Amino acid sequence: MNVLSITDRERWDAKYAARFRPTQLAPDEWLMAEVAPLPCGRALELACGLGHNSIWLARQGWKVDAVDVSPIGLSLAAELASANGAAVNWIAADLDQFVPHIETYDLVCVFRFLDRVRLPAIIEQALRPGGRLLYETFTTANLARPESHMTNSDFALTANELPRLFPNLRTISYAECDLADRSVARFVAERPALDD
Ligand SMILES: C[S@@+](CC[C@H](N)C(=O)[O-])C[C@H]1O[C@@H](n2cnc3c(N)ncnc32)[C@H](O)[C@@H]1O
Repeated sequence: MNVLSITDRERWDAKYAARFRPTQLAPDEWLMAEVAPLPCGRALELACGLGHNSIWLARQGWKVDAVDVSPIGLSLAAELASANGAAVNWIAADLDQFVPHIETYDLVCVFRFLDRVRLPAIIEQALRPGGRLLYETFTTANLARPESHMTNSDFALTANELPRLFPNLRTISYAECDLADRSVARFVAERPALDD
């Protein structure tokens, strides 16, 4: 097979097929802290992977739609959800084509994924007025870390890039953090309410 013809789905299916089957996966602590004060509502996770954050949200009482391109990853996520008593609506879709429910979600979250072209429009359409975005992904500082497996700088954010990708959202907080195991940007933003 020509390597250049491998799609995102094939690449990620192969990665997940080679993975061990987890029975427990902890949610991201930053997600837990940011979501704690919010009332439960409808949530959308984009590029959810094995679904650790969606499963946690569902267990808190959120009604969750979770999208990923890898059906194999989603089948592991679904097993994990059922082992942990969580109901999540898993959606196998490529974000290059995905069309979200419009103005529906109180919360959209993205972890460890970057698509500068499609994600801003998907997120802005999906959030209801007053809805909130939580977005964490790697910065260029992550490329230089000795323990990092990241090699492609296209997937790393430059300084202050994330808020600039969302000019129609109101920034609540933004930080670039060098954590013990990764360097990331963390962005919390809100779609302005209709009367703002
Ligand atoms: C680095 S993993 C992160 C997964 C999860 N968000 C996490 O933090 O563990 C990136 C995820 O993006 C998904 N992905 C890659 N390209 C995609 C696309 N075009 N559409 C939807 N999902 C995609 C992969 O299947 C993979 O699960």
